[in-house]
Amino acid sequence: MRKDKRILVVDDEESVRKLLQAVLKKEGYKADMAENGEAALKLAGINHYDLAVVDIRMPLMDGMELFHVLREKHPEITVIVITAFAGVDTAVEAMKLGAYNYISKPFNLSEIKLNVKRALEIKDLADEVKLLRQEIKDKFAINNMVGNSGKMQEVYKIIGRVAESSATVLIMGESGTGKELVAKAIHYNSPRRGAPMVKVNCAALPEGLLESELFGHEKGAFTGAIDRKKGRFEYADGGTIMLDEISEMSPSLQVKLLRVLQEKEFERVGGLDTIKTDVRIIAATNRNLEDMIRVGTFREDLYYRLNVVPIHIAPLRERREDIPLLVESFLNKYSQVAGKGFKYVSVEAMRLLTSYNWPGNVRELENVIERSVVMGSGEVLLPDHLPFGIQSFSPTEELILDFGDKPLKEILHEVEKRVIKKALQHNRWNRAQTAAKLQISRSALLYKIEEYGLEQDLDQSLKQ
Ligand SMILES: Nc1ncnc2c1ncn2[C@@H]1O[C@H](COP(=O)(O)OP(=O)(O)OP(=O)(O)O)[C@@H](O)[C@H]1O
Ligand SMILES: [Mg+2]
Repeated sequence: MRKDKRILVVDDEESVRKLLQAVLKKEGYKADMAENGEAALKLAGINHYDLAVVDIRMPLMDGMELFHVLREKHPEITVIVITAFAGVDTAVEAMKLGAYNYISKPFNLSEIKLNVKRALEIKDLADEVKLLRQEIKDKFAINNMVGNSGKMQEVYKIIGRVAESSATVLIMGESGTGKELVAKAIHYNSPRRGAPMVKVNCAALPEGLLESELFGHEKGAFTGAIDRKKGRFEYADGGTIMLDEISEMSPSLQVKLLRVLQEKEFERVGGLDTIKTDVRIIAATNRNLEDMIRVGTFREDLYYRLNVVPIHIAPLRERREDIPLLVESFLNKYSQVAGKGFKYVSVEAMRLLTSYNWPGNVRELENVIERSVVMGSGEVLLPDHLPFGIQSFSPTEELILDFGDKPLKEILHEVEKRVIKKALQHNRWNRAQTAAKLQISRSALLYKIEEYGLEQDLDQSLKQ
């Protein structure tokens, strides 16, 4: 790759020019020389340069002037300026205007080599990003979905296949993986796009309110029902309804929903008229419904009615190849929103971002990039811009630090304790469900809760 790089050295001192040219050639670059600004512009008009190393103090057209013209006429050329100590202010000025770096005279050669190498690396990255962006635009931007891992390709395919029909879809994935985005993609690519897409979060309302929210109510149906109210199923007629966190729906509402799925009809709360509805239903969940069926908290018949077309969205840690694309796209978006100049991600920052575990998935990644952009400045996102937890993330180190030199038995106890605590949290402290998930008996789980003193946590969570 190096061999293709062409560098322009502009300095009025012949000895400096010769020295730089020799060094750069030895490093494997092509290097041309110009003794002043005008000569440099002439060469830039003939050859394609990736980088120019420009002395600030030169007779005729000085380095700053040349820099301005280059930026105007050849914005693709990265510029490094060289300056005597007295000219540092000017050099800083040049950096503010977009020069890559400045080097003060007298310089040492390793400094020059390193700067040239870095500047060219960043330029390569920028070119790559441009290509990737184009690719994203071409393929996926229609639905604002970014990512081209095999797992996401599968998701796009299902969206494409199912959009045309009115089949019920069940979207499964951890929190922040993009379930709502997928639901929108289905609706807006379907013949129903002209009608509303309505979203209802089944976890947000108590049972009674959720029922009237979904199906509406008649005047006087219950205390406070002073008027007749249309439900979401009526509003969504002809369109799509997204039932988010479907796992949280009460058993009696599950029965009513089942009827809508089977008969395409329902009654308002307190009403006698049967209302027909033409709605595509998309249900979403971050919990495992099959486990819930096993412990009796979710109806099996409803599950089969919902699970006509299942879509599994993999957690981000299982499709890390999507991370660079997502990072670039969020960096771009939030730079624009916040009026910042971030354009590139340093190799090290990208390494950290791709090795982190992302328990909050794409939402967490998006928040991290937004925060880093808002708090930071410059063109390149560096490790220092990232939150501390990501800067210092290292799975193996974490384990070693955690357990120090404890005996194996203690370590295993600690691990078991954490796993059980996590599982309890995940199943909202439902012990039967947790035991089923961990495939241990209920009494074994109760024993472990006692042994590890997890009762206290349990009580705390119940009080909340
Ligand atoms: N593939 C993707 N490309 C671009 N942005 C994404 C992608 N997936 C998720 N996001 C973004 O991440 C955030 C979370 O996505 P979304 O709300 O769809 O997740 P969710 O699975 O519904 O989460 P929850 O279970 O917490 O409701 C949103 O801001 C969304 O735009
Ligand atoms: Mg959601």
